[in-house]
Amino acid sequence: MSAELLLLSKNIKVLFYIILFIADLFLWFIIWRELKERDRILRASVLVLKTAVTALFLFLLLRIVLYKGEFADPANAFRQIQMGTMAVLLVSSSTACLTANLLKWMISLLRGRKAGNSGIANTLIFILLTLLVADGYFRQRLDIRTVRQTVTVTGLDPALDGMKIALIADLHISSWHDSYDRLDRAMQSVDDEDPDLILNTGDFITFGWQEFGRSDTILRKAKALAGAFAVEGNHDDGTYYPGFDDSYGAECRMMVEQYIESSGYTLLRDSAAVINFRGKNIAIAGVATHGHRLDMTYGNFEKVLSPLPDSLFTILLIHDPAGWLISSIAGRLPDLTVAGHTHGFQAGLPGRGWSPSALIHEQWRGLYEFCGSHLFVSTGLGTMGMAARFFMPPEIVILTITTD
Ligand SMILES: [Fe+2]
Repeated sequence: MSAELLLLSKNIKVLFYIILFIADLFLWFIIWRELKERDRILRASVLVLKTAVTALFLFLLLRIVLYKGEFADPANAFRQIQMGTMAVLLVSSSTACLTANLLKWMISLLRGRKAGNSGIANTLIFILLTLLVADGYFRQRLDIRTVRQTVTVTGLDPALDGMKIALIADLHISSWHDSYDRLDRAMQSVDDEDPDLILNTGDFITFGWQEFGRSDTILRKAKALAGAFAVEGNHDDGTYYPGFDDSYGAECRMMVEQYIESSGYTLLRDSAAVINFRGKNIAIAGVATHGHRLDMTYGNFEKVLSPLPDSLFTILLIHDPAGWLISSIAGRLPDLTVAGHTHGFQAGLPGRGWSPSALIHEQWRGLYEFCGSHLFVSTGLGTMGMAARFFMPPEIVILTITTD
């Protein structure tokens, strides 16, 4: 990365912190104004909560700004997403309060009356959003679910009927920095399922290879009869590392490969492995996703898929589900494709409802079918951007392949 780009990204970060600071001050102003005439107990309780939020924000900000060590150290990488959670709380509370006040002012204007200062709507908005964000951080983010899905494949060789696949996506390993015990239990639960295959669709890291620490010892606790396979996601090249350059990219690719392999996986870098399963050959193919910011590029589908005969049951691992239909350009839609990447926006409506992820990705969660080819998209295990999930739980997927 050039010096100008590095300076620009530092300036954007400073601007981001200034916006958060202003949002926090704004919340103080409106909550104080609303509560100054109110009951002492209510006022004291809300102000204790508000003080705790501000103190946490300033503490986190100081730790980030004063930190001089390796950026991708797991502790520092985790602090970045903790700040993301704080940003969600401050920005959503201040925006919701601003909108509520604007609506109140417009209604009073239409009625031809001056807006009164009664009510505690802003205080209630702040309290509810603080509780929701705290729940998303402390509980929902760590509440790992096992999602089970049967995939019916027309013309499947009877020998493959019942094949059990454990799918893991988007570990973003440093997001487990405060809860490696949960990750450990999740890998143990995968192992307890006795899967035939474990497939991991990438984004092992968020910024840099250093995030792995000793997590490979946790990941290799999950084992499968016929092997574990992985592909790299858009984060695994290290292109989101501040100060990324060709030299860091080469180092990151080498180290990430070593870590993925020491975690028990065979890494498929635009390649396919033909394995024997219950006396039948099947192909496990993997195409890498590369990315920087929102730009995604993919490895060579044609090189990987075209040599595989149509008669060979083929599973494709791709990080970004958009690659599923691109693979048809290679003239060879795999029988099953598994992907992750979307995280389901880490937020959705309760009860597996709609998520903003649907506005960004054509395929974002669950099972899809096109011309007899199936795609399953996992909403992932780890977190990125913010250390929280809202009605979009972290998941381990168990796929069972059957014939019709
Ligand atoms: Fe991703």
